[in-house]
Amino acid sequence: MIIIGFESSCDETGVALVCTERGLLAHALHSQVAMHQEYGGVVPELASRDHIRRILPLTREVLAAAGMAAGDVDAVAYTAGPGLAGALLVGASVAQSFAWARGLPAIPIHHLEGHLLSPLLASPRPGFPFVALLVSGGHTQIMRVDGVGAYQLLGETLDDAAGEAFDKTAKLLGLGYPGGPALSRLAQQGVATACELPRPMLHSPDLDFSFSGLKTAVMTRVKSLEKAGGRLSAQQRADLAAATEAAIVDVLAAKSIKAMKQTGLKRLVVAGGVGANSHLRARLGQAMAKLNGEVFFPPLDLCTDNGAMIAFAAAMRVNAGLADLSDMRHAFTVKP
Ligand code: KG4
Ligand code: ZN
Repeated sequence: MIIIGFESSCDETGVALVCTERGLLAHALHSQVAMHQEYGGVVPELASRDHIRRILPLTREVLAAAGMAAGDVDAVAYTAGPGLAGALLVGASVAQSFAWARGLPAIPIHHLEGHLLSPLLASPRPGFPFVALLVSGGHTQIMRVDGVGAYQLLGETLDDAAGEAFDKTAKLLGLGYPGGPALSRLAQQGVATACELPRPMLHSPDLDFSFSGLKTAVMTRVKSLEKAGGRLSAQQRADLAAATEAAIVDVLAAKSIKAMKQTGLKRLVVAGGVGANSHLRARLGQAMAKLNGEVFFPPLDLCTDNGAMIAFAAAMRVNAGLADLSDMRHAFTVKP
């Protein structure tokens, strides 16, 4: 069965073709990063309009790359949410129209389920069950995953997401949008121990997170440095970037380790945009080796939003015989 998947929840337009037997056939992606950069963040109206411009050319591109025609497609998947309403509407409308015109099923996919299953697109691919650390610009969650559709929320952020913490502190340091990769690059020239930042909820008994205090601590630090010496030096900015990255990575690693110990599972899967962070990847690799466990990441180009993870999640659902394709909202918002 050939499934075409559409992702348009935020600032990336993604289209992909996945075969339920052979896996990913082709995917095409357009990032709006350059367009939103001058505003320092995503402008929802501009995002929707750009999705409209890009989605059909990307659809043609992906069909051509796979050597297929629209008539070869057996089902259509799309990101149903969460995301920007206008942006989601573009993907949903195109997907529903494609499906309706050809009498195909249209499969709504929860955006987080797409991220959650994306590490299974890599090789080697993790088997079930596993603990998933979902770290994106909008979410930070720890889930127990026993199979396709069998998700249990174990912990989540009480305020900002990890990616948001990267983005907001990057903005404070005068870095562009999206801040995560920029902050991470700057951090390479800094000394993390040059300034001490809090590790919010590091020792709380639960698996929850809180990152908003970190942003405030960085802001306070920037203000006091500026008061003392005017503009921050390049080294001070790099040190703050390194300290911020270290604080976020410390908390994410500590809670992931706690989740592994609590569940007794040996496989950790990391998904979402922050999963591209090399410092986080290295730290979790070391931690899992110590626990005699394994850590899995999506392919680097599939960490951030893309159509492949949406088409793939739909294929996994079809292969698992999940007749009920209704959305998974409650799995990602309600702790058992
Ligand atoms: O999963 P994603 O593309 O979008 C959401 O669903 O939110 O994640 C985007 C987030 C942004 O906050 C971005 O700054 C962050 O992932 N990010 C990174 C890195 N690459 C992307 N954060 C830290 N280090 C990176 N290398
Ligand atoms: Zn995402």
